Amino acid sequence: MINQQEFIKKIPKVELHLHIEGSLEPELMFKLAARNKIELPYASVEALKEAYQFNNLQEFLDLYYQGAEVLQAEQDFYDLAWAYFETCHRDNVLHTEVFFDPQTHTERGITMATVINGLTRAKQQAEKQYGISCEYILCFLRHLSEASAIQTLEAAKPFLAQIIGVGLDSSEQGHPPEKFQRVFSMAKQLGLRRVAHAGEEGPASNVASAWELLDVSRIDHGVRCLEDAALVKQLARVQMPLTVCPFSNVKLKVVEHLSDHPLPSMIANGLAVTINSDDPAYFGGYLLDNLQACSETFNWDRAQIAALSYAAVTASYASEVRKSELSQLIDNCLAEFSQ
Ligand code: ADE
Ligand code: ZN
Repeated sequence: MINQQEFIKKIPKVELHLHIEGSLEPELMFKLAARNKIELPYASVEALKEAYQFNNLQEFLDLYYQGAEVLQAEQDFYDLAWAYFETCHRDNVLHTEVFFDPQTHTERGITMATVINGLTRAKQQAEKQYGISCEYILCFLRHLSEASAIQTLEAAKPFLAQIIGVGLDSSEQGHPPEKFQRVFSMAKQLGLRRVAHAGEEGPASNVASAWELLDVSRIDHGVRCLEDAALVKQLARVQMPLTVCPFSNVKLKVVEHLSDHPLPSMIANGLAVTINSDDPAYFGGYLLDNLQACSETFNWDRAQIAALSYAAVTASYASEVRKSELSQLIDNCLAEFSQ
């Protein structure tokens, strides 16, 4: 089993569902709060960590948006993203597609340029120093209005070269995909890829409508698609990628225990699942930790782990050249461990 954990660490990995604001570790949150002279409503890092107990998505989001308030200057966004790339390097995550929530910052008077320039500088350094490839996905907050989403897309126009696509996150209940049909169509016309959170807390019908109305090429979470057998068949037939986040689903009580997670059933149904960390600083672990825990819980062998790594490469928006490089690196790792 030790060998399996070592294999999981070594195998080249791809992450497709990571909110950069959700990678803000309590230690960095305190450091940035001090730098920006912001008082946090917690006495210590330990007290903050103790507050990370959630009964649902909204309870988490309330703390997550509060935590993001320490991000003010371009350097803060750089430091945040750089800290994440350091964990990628440590854990052999070689390609990553990272969400950011500009409205969380622009609503506080921080400019789109401040956010994107800081994130981009960190990405360029990660590419140069560690050979990690990264794409950014701009997410619209679904609890805000359609007009605010459209304004956000407008504000992002000077930075389109820095963004591969748009996504949809925040409170799913009461904010179905149809609210964002127009802004997603505008994003498509700008040549942006489209993904959306759906079927996390919301019903399977949100998965179907994100697919149909927002014309997404990946579904984030999607676990509740299992409640609609016909939809599962269609998703499996077209191999629509689902970016599943096991620790997140446990922490936000989508499932009670990891052992209750529907991943095995999703895989058995032929769905194109990938494993991801979502908000690792809040949910107890990064991609590697998610994979190691799932492997133990579900008794996965090397072939299953490798299949998940290949699936994430296929589902990614990396160039074809980068995809074949990543696949080759996975092949090499498998060969090394089968000797
Ligand atoms: N924003 C950050 N993490 C999220 C999640 N798991 N669901 C919806 N919105 C989010
Ligand atoms: Zn998410």
